Amino acid sequence: MTDAAQPTLLRPRTARAGRLIAVASGKGGVGKTWLAVTLSHALARAGRRVLLFDADLGLANVDIQLGLVPEGDLGAVVAGRLPLERVLLRHDAGFDVLPGCSGSGALAALDAPALEAVLRALREVARGYSDVVLDLGAGVEPTVRRLAAVADLLLVVATAEPTSLTDAYAVLKLHAADGGGAARVVVNQASSRAAGERTYATLARACAAFLGRTPPCAAIIRRDERVSDAIRHQTPLLTRHPAAPAAADVEALAGALT
Ligand SMILES: Nc1ncnc2c1ncn2[C@@H]1O[C@H](COP(=O)(O)OP(=O)(O)O)[C@@H](O)[C@H]1O
Ligand SMILES: [Mg+2]
Repeated sequence: MTDAAQPTLLRPRTARAGRLIAVASGKGGVGKTWLAVTLSHALARAGRRVLLFDADLGLANVDIQLGLVPEGDLGAVVAGRLPLERVLLRHDAGFDVLPGCSGSGALAALDAPALEAVLRALREVARGYSDVVLDLGAGVEPTVRRLAAVADLLLVVATAEPTSLTDAYAVLKLHAADGGGAARVVVNQASSRAAGERTYATLARACAAFLGRTPPCAAIIRRDERVSDAIRHQTPLLTRHPAAPAAADVEALAGALT
């Protein structure tokens, strides 16, 4: 293939593989997918070359939040029907998306060799980006743990609900047991900054007492009705409501990560 015939998406800009930032939580519905989308957008706006990788292998829905209609998805890649580069999409907001396999559940129970194949493909495609943001599924099954463990940075999303806090704690505990890299906490849907600080402090105390280490707080993101409005309109928050408090909170997170 001549250079001109290659999709521009694939032309590597960096020789080193991009940084892998995984977003996990244990509990579903806390805002992982929304955070992964919005963080990808904010990093792109900060000049980073970003790939958003829908790694929720059971109930992928990055493409739904973004209103994308993928021609292929990770399922086709894993089944060997399409090379990973062929299913990449570029979003107008300035980042690329690797869509997951929405609703089919086909990828939820990947066997170990298939998962390692996904990881190899992920590392290969990461070479073309400065950051790859992985939206992980809920739960703590082996696939989620493996994807979290290979990340350079794990962002664990928690809300003030006790079930979210216990699940976030479980993710942090297993991540430590798996020998994973740096982990930080993101408090989402905080009713105020002060309330978010208290939520973080509760989780940090449990980690200090039982894990012997305290993950730093990466961000407190306020609850904001414009988040669900943006999702309903399948438009990124930073496009639809750039002045929203939650948008400012995610941009601050992106700033701290660059
Ligand atoms: N900061 C926020 N403020 C208000 N609502 C939020 C916020 N973050 C997430 N949500 C709501 O939570 C819902 C679930 O988000 P989603 O990203 O799908 O969660 P997950 O991927 O963890 O299951 C969204 O549809 C949205 O309405
Ligand atoms: Mg999700």
